[in-house]
Amino acid sequence: MNPAIPMRSPRTHSCSTATPNAHRRRMISSVEPANLKLSESGELAERARRAWQHRGNCDLCAHYCHIDRLETIKSAVRVAILFLGLTAAWGINCMERDQDIDLPEPSVAGDISLEAAIGERRSVRDFSKRSLSLADVAQLLWAAQGVTSRDGGRTAPSARALYPLEIYLVAGDVDSLPAGLYRYLPRGHRLQLISEGDLRKPLARAALDQSWVRRAPAVLIVAGVYERSAKKYGERARRYTRIETGHAAQNVYLQATALGLGTVIVGAFEDTEVQGVLGLPADHAPLALMPVGHPR
Ligand SMILES: Cc1cc2nc3c(=O)[nH]c(=O)nc-3n(C[C@H](O)[C@H](O)[C@H](O)COP(=O)(O)O)c2cc1C
Repeated sequence: MNPAIPMRSPRTHSCSTATPNAHRRRMISSVEPANLKLSESGELAERARRAWQHRGNCDLCAHYCHIDRLETIKSAVRVAILFLGLTAAWGINCMERDQDIDLPEPSVAGDISLEAAIGERRSVRDFSKRSLSLADVAQLLWAAQGVTSRDGGRTAPSARALYPLEIYLVAGDVDSLPAGLYRYLPRGHRLQLISEGDLRKPLARAALDQSWVRRAPAVLIVAGVYERSAKKYGERARRYTRIETGHAAQNVYLQATALGLGTVIVGAFEDTEVQGVLGLPADHAPLALMPVGHPR
């Protein structure tokens, strides 16, 4: 017998159960729902009464009650710690959200018809020195992957709506937006700052020195997170993600045309270099670069 157990009087202990767990099982089994199901209601009441009486008289029960109280306190402390942790995480999340940049609302009434935009679309590589407005950048990002329905549907189709694309923005000369790398957050239509500083030059070098990447006031980067699609499609995910890149890129082309801007899809670049310059997560594969600006 454990000497630490505070026995009122060994003689008064009529309970034959020797171990804490066995004891607890006995206490519980007298009122357990599985047992209740099989019992008559009168028998039930009697069992509950006996269990209660037993609890009141038994030293071992008193001891385990003490243990129960300690366990309750421990559980309460655990819940409190969990609550504080969640509150802190929520606070950090709010702070991060506060640092995100709200983008101007996208327009759904352009100046030219869809047919005119399709007819006029051309790859543009020669940009003027004019900066881009934040509204235009927001409109282009929205065209690439903006959310357009309550259930999360986007501007570009996606196999099983798994949305494996991420759109990044390298801002060099955008009004009211410090030069840096940003991630577009479709839900909420916001920008998340990833890193500060102008990355256009190193990005152009990673794209086989294509000067339009360096000269454009901003570059959109379409990255694919194959794993999101692979959960459903396995190997086929790579194909689908690249097809989706084409949809997003064509939207950007047409939107740029409608805004009087120019862009070109750049597929020739060193994958690992682009990934390194941007510091993308390992599972965000760069699939296309789209320098955008005012045509010269
Ligand atoms: C998958 C793909 C990759 C491309 N990669 C590049 C590129 O790395 N650099 C570039 O200047 N143009 C690139 N282009 C643009 C093509 O050169 C251009 O679309 C083609 O010359 C037709 O001209 P248009 O877009 O004006 O109709 C690419 C186009 C596609 C579809």
